[in-house]
Amino acid sequence: MPRKLFVTTALPYANGKFHIGHIMEYIQADIWVRTQRMLGNAVNFVCADDAHGAPIMIAAEKAGLTPQQFVAGIAAGRKQYLDGFHIAFDNWHSTDAPENHQLAQDIYRDLKANGLIETRTIDQFFDPEKGMFLPDRYIKGECPRCRAKEQYGDNCEVCGSVYAPTDLIEPYSTLSGAKPVLKSSEHFFFRLSDPRCVAFLEDWTQDGRLQPEVANKVREWFSVRSNPDGSTSEGLGDWDISRDAPYFGIEIPDAPGKYFYVWLDAPIGYLASLKNLLGKRGEDYDAYMADPALEQVHFIGKDIVTFHTLFWPATLKFSGRKVPDNVFVHGFLTVNNGEKMSKSRGTGLDPLKYLELGMNPEWLRYYLAAKLSSRNEDIDFNAADFMARVNSDLVGKYINIASRAAGFLTKRFGGQLAAVSADGDALLEHLKDVAPGIIELLAEREYGKALRETMLLADRVNAYVDQNRPWELARQDGMDSRLQDVCSTCIEAFRLLTIVMKPVMPHLAAQVERFLNVAPFTFESAQSLLGAGHRIGEYKHLLQRVTPEQLEALFEPPAQDQQALEAIEIGANDAGPLPGGEAIAPTITIDDFARIDLRIARIEQCERVEGSTKLLRLTLDAGEGKTRNVFSGIASAYAPEQLTGKLTVLVANLAPRKMKFGVSEGMVLAASHGDEKAQPGIYVLEPTEGAQPGMRVR
Ligand code: MSP
Ligand code: ZN
Repeated sequence: MPRKLFVTTALPYANGKFHIGHIMEYIQADIWVRTQRMLGNAVNFVCADDAHGAPIMIAAEKAGLTPQQFVAGIAAGRKQYLDGFHIAFDNWHSTDAPENHQLAQDIYRDLKANGLIETRTIDQFFDPEKGMFLPDRYIKGECPRCRAKEQYGDNCEVCGSVYAPTDLIEPYSTLSGAKPVLKSSEHFFFRLSDPRCVAFLEDWTQDGRLQPEVANKVREWFSVRSNPDGSTSEGLGDWDISRDAPYFGIEIPDAPGKYFYVWLDAPIGYLASLKNLLGKRGEDYDAYMADPALEQVHFIGKDIVTFHTLFWPATLKFSGRKVPDNVFVHGFLTVNNGEKMSKSRGTGLDPLKYLELGMNPEWLRYYLAAKLSSRNEDIDFNAADFMARVNSDLVGKYINIASRAAGFLTKRFGGQLAAVSADGDALLEHLKDVAPGIIELLAEREYGKALRETMLLADRVNAYVDQNRPWELARQDGMDSRLQDVCSTCIEAFRLLTIVMKPVMPHLAAQVERFLNVAPFTFESAQSLLGAGHRIGEYKHLLQRVTPEQLEALFEPPAQDQQALEAIEIGANDAGPLPGGEAIAPTITIDDFARIDLRIARIEQCERVEGSTKLLRLTLDAGEGKTRNVFSGIASAYAPEQLTGKLTVLVANLAPRKMKFGVSEGMVLAASHGDEKAQPGIYVLEPTEGAQPGMRVR
């Protein structure tokens, strides 16, 4: 019987674009889902934006948008990453969707009916100017212990002490600067301390389903016990699940002005996304969930384990719903041994820039898979290591097998495979024997081990190639049939290796399927061979090597940071008159100037950028035989039709710059006063008549 699986990844906060940590999580889950599908199991794989909460509400306000508009803008940017890295979610939804409002309210009513909701009045800091209660992260003040200034409401980054926001000296709201006042309010609590919850969780978390390191960590949180240092752990506390208006979230039924805390409705978003998917397909959600054979698993990072192993299973259990079968926890990804990346900004490796540089997404999938295991340990993206693994393993060992054999078969034998003789047969039998173990490792999320085993097989195949030297056979008379035999063995071996790596590199595998003229690989197909007489197609190079230049470009800091830095330095030392509102910049040499390549460009197209009030998108022809996409902050000064068809000046060798709306491949020149507020106006440069696109400005 095929398994029936419902798989999710954590729902990313809709307050920023994806960073490489998100992409890693999706790749890990995607490989597992593809593995399950190749095993013949039925999978629904979904995700959604985590739309609610105070930070998103505040970010939207700052951007001058409603939270809904703000979140929609973020959602619109998701597809290019997911498609780009071949991440095949069946559905992408939002926690602000109607399904989630409905489900969250239903689940809450069921918990309440089960006697697990309780209200209590608590005192909290309130920002009198903003008229809202302040989450700890929006309160700062002096540390009560070391008196360091500007410390957050819950702990001091200078002396490390932990305290309550009410302990801060001279507290202020980071939103308004106002002094917060204590105000009481009624909150709703989920009574996790109820013996029923404790008993259920002790069982659910400790019955062997979770990774051992996760189960051990979780045990510390809910058990009442004495610690070695003499202190006692308190056990599971009740969970505050409400927030007061103004809040961007889901209203609590029969409680005006009260909303669910974002972490209550966020995981319910898993169900909402599934329900939405099934609805689109005309399938019945309740029937699907009611099937006892259904397995529900969540892929998450180690920072959100409490929510997924305590709050979430308890929420489901005590609202009378199916509990998760498992939670697969991964560690954090760092880049070039760098600091842990900031949750919102990420660091170092911009996934979109990776794609825009034309780097192959399956290199990254392969590399990350090679580092991943079923444990929740951190892994590091290291540029040199990345290049070595891709170039020497993937291209050098694996692709090489096909590229060394395919040409002879197509040129000399019409692409036809021959019968394989004993030595080749022994090799292929070995590959077929090892393949199920590799597939097993993939299903256990031991991707690193699976790929190491696969590369050991590739080593064996290469040893066979080196022994038989097809390039020499090709030069010898009377060796035609041996040449065809050896090359056939290579192609058969290459096919088997591709089958076991297909979940990791699905597009590459699809190219191989075309090249070999075969139907899509299943894991079962790794137990048979193409066989003598099969005709392969023409070999086209399947995978390039990574170049040092690509990696350099990937990690080059974005050009605008540099400019911003310089602008600050220049502004800091001005003294004399300020022509145009700005001091003349420090002297440069003619060589400095020559480094800037200015070109005449024709504005082929000019259009507004949806979601931006500042930018216009220009399509420029600088005589290169292709156009460039440039964003320019001139929307306040020009309507798009005023510029279409005009010539202007382009900084043609400026590093491409990734912006919210796409990549800007240069910059057009415009004049403005140093103090734009005092003297508004932007004037795009235009050459006098006769200039042609592509001419250099010097
Ligand atoms: N919105 C919550 C999750 C709600 S799930 C119902 C959240 N969002 S997040 O955007 O901050 O993180 C989403 C996922 O990305 C989490 O699983 C998190 O652990 C993971 N990662 C965030 N940074 C990461 C790395 N640097 N490395 C690997 N995964 C990381 O938490
Ligand atoms: Zn301190």
